[in-house]
Amino acid sequence: MAYINVIDEYKRYHMGDTTIAANDGISFSVEKGEVAVILGPSGAGKSTVLNILGGMDSCDEGEIVIDGTDIAKYNEKQLTTYRRNDVGFVFQFYNLVPNLTAKENVELASQIVSDALDPEDVLKSVGLSERLDNFPAQLSGGEQQRVTIARAIAKRPKLLLCDEPTGALDYETGKQILTILQDTAHNTGTTVLIITHNSAIAPMADRVIRINDAKVRNVTINDEPKPVAEIEW
Ligand SMILES: Nc1ncnc2c1ncn2[C@@H]1O[C@H](COP(=O)(O)OP(=O)(O)O)[C@@H](O)[C@H]1O
Ligand SMILES: [Mg+2]
Repeated sequence: MAYINVIDEYKRYHMGDTTIAANDGISFSVEKGEVAVILGPSGAGKSTVLNILGGMDSCDEGEIVIDGTDIAKYNEKQLTTYRRNDVGFVFQFYNLVPNLTAKENVELASQIVSDALDPEDVLKSVGLSERLDNFPAQLSGGEQQRVTIARAIAKRPKLLLCDEPTGALDYETGKQILTILQDTAHNTGTTVLIITHNSAIAPMADRVIRINDAKVRNVTINDEPKPVAEIEW
């Protein structure tokens, strides 16, 4: 069985008399250590799927099987443990604590899990060994996003969930971030899901899941995903 199995998942939002089907029978799987790109236009239902996979939201129907366990059946306490131990999040905006340095932001991971990676080592691995003592406001957007990734990776999550991680970054900086995410999956076995509306990013993925209008329209496997440096857009 694949590492992630989303099986016939539905999520509806009720607004007065109208119901919006944000996810309308979504099914897909992702293998351990893969980079999966979830591709689709704005409003397609991508963030809804990611939030459900991350235990931040619950589905109305369906199974969300992660590493053999259906997290859709979890209660609140189990979901909290799951979010703390198993999932790392990277969002479009960096969500760093402004009055903590880069290193201190990454040290937060060790307050959440007992076996966190060494903050200096992780910051070094994302190319920030010279910026340990800088505050977020003293870092560029790309550097802040690297700190966010370092903080997420330091928890040694099973899943790294990234919602438009390059959305606020320029082209070259965005490429650096995607390179780090691709390297993380391929070097550490972390399963990485990246949401984007930019189809040009698809060649970097091991698996591309196209979502449109609340449904999965197409899944493709890249037997030879391209290094991010070789992709142009
Ligand atoms: N909390 C919510 N309440 C009501 N509608 C929502 C909520 N979250 C998302 N939606 C709706 O669900 C649909 C899918 O949203 P979303 O998953 O954020 O799409 P995407 O990330 O692909 O842009 C959209 O129509 C959006 O307006
Ligand atoms: Mg979204």
